[in-house]
Amino acid sequence: MTDSDTPRFPPGFIWGAATSSYQIEGAVDAHGRGPSIWDTFCATPGKVSGGATGAVACDHYHLWERDVDLMARLGLGAYRFSVAWPRVIPNGTGAIEPRGLDFYDRLVDALLERGIAPYATLYHWDLPQALQDAGGWPERGIVDAFVSYADAVTARLGDRVAGYATLNEPWCAAYLGYAAGEHAPGLRDHALSLRAAHHLLLAHGSALEVMRANAPRAQHGIVLNLIPAHPASSAPDDVAAAQRFDGFFNRWYLDPLLRGHYPEDVWEGYGDLVPEVRDGDLERISAPIDFLGVNYYNRTIMAHDPDAPWPSLRQVPFTTPPTDMGWEVYPEGLTEILLRVQRDYAPPPMLVTENGAAYPDTLRDGVVDDAARVAFFEGHVAALHDAIRQGADVRGYFAWSLLDNFEWQHGFDMRFGLVYVDYDTQARIPKRSAAWYAGLIERQRDAAAAVMP
Ligand code: FCB
Repeated sequence: MTDSDTPRFPPGFIWGAATSSYQIEGAVDAHGRGPSIWDTFCATPGKVSGGATGAVACDHYHLWERDVDLMARLGLGAYRFSVAWPRVIPNGTGAIEPRGLDFYDRLVDALLERGIAPYATLYHWDLPQALQDAGGWPERGIVDAFVSYADAVTARLGDRVAGYATLNEPWCAAYLGYAAGEHAPGLRDHALSLRAAHHLLLAHGSALEVMRANAPRAQHGIVLNLIPAHPASSAPDDVAAAQRFDGFFNRWYLDPLLRGHYPEDVWEGYGDLVPEVRDGDLERISAPIDFLGVNYYNRTIMAHDPDAPWPSLRQVPFTTPPTDMGWEVYPEGLTEILLRVQRDYAPPPMLVTENGAAYPDTLRDGVVDDAARVAFFEGHVAALHDAIRQGADVRGYFAWSLLDNFEWQHGFDMRFGLVYVDYDTQARIPKRSAAWYAGLIERQRDAAAAVMP
């Protein structure tokens, strides 16, 4: 993308990068942190590629100041991180560990000193193990535990944080964790996973009141991962299959949050598996939010599969070169999903809270020339611009990720960073994509400054 091809984003558009606590912090025993379900999952043989764990990861808990300097050098306007619940309330409920809060307190101040707006996610999957021992997200009592935790964090960090997201990707936490067994806690029970999903949403809605009281000037929202689903053919069975995927993956979260009810077709499809919903739950879940975070990575192509359990789907392979995760590169899907959410839900302003790609980077002579990632970002930034031009109210974009990091069940095999991490030395080496992103941000700032009176 040359200077003249750079699409112009509205002045004030937020350019950031994202990470999450378990993926970068390491220091799992420091300052009273309790164990999380991811520590337990990683310690279970066969769950994570190469037997990797987040025990050290990018050692960000110790190297955070350097990392904040790095963000400043890239010119980031915002940084999205997550707070580790087991650092703040090591047993999930009860005593607050002030040293855990101190860490985020210092991080937030350091960001502000460098003009970087902090965006904090309260739950990016590292549940205190003690809460899982008590049943985890499928148990309704977890909702109160989350509200107390949200209170502790927002009481300390307050309005210094620009935006708080309650949850990151509840679909992953509920489905991958409790139905597919691919994420912690590694269970395989569909009914449990739907109870988990309901309590995740209820925890989100229930925490908003105290969050707003503690941080009245901050923006409060939630982050969903959304996937446009396309039918494998125009056959009515395949068209219906794509709609079922959309229901199971996207609408199961969008509808209760933004319309106050679960989608009827999906509710019926699940039959006896549906969770108990009590009076007032949906009012709480659909409490107003200030922003909707959208994580976008790819689309899916779906066919009807009569032999598969409901939603009776088969994913159809795509033909273009995949990323290292095996995901399709499909920038148009970002335009599509943002416009669709805008049209169907009239949501509050949206932020693209994650978007990025893993490629097998190599460090040669001190340089990582990640041309494929640069092309990925160029395509998606252009697609985002298209969505805004066509009417989607999107106020910011966060690249996933600032750093290469612990990619869940894939361990350290997947590199998503703008910045390469040498895990032996903890050296940070900005990739070519980091220089590209820094250039984009600078050009956008210059353009915005030029239109100011
Ligand atoms: C998202 C997660 C994030 C990271 C990216 C690749 O689903 O929120 O932690 O794993 O995928």
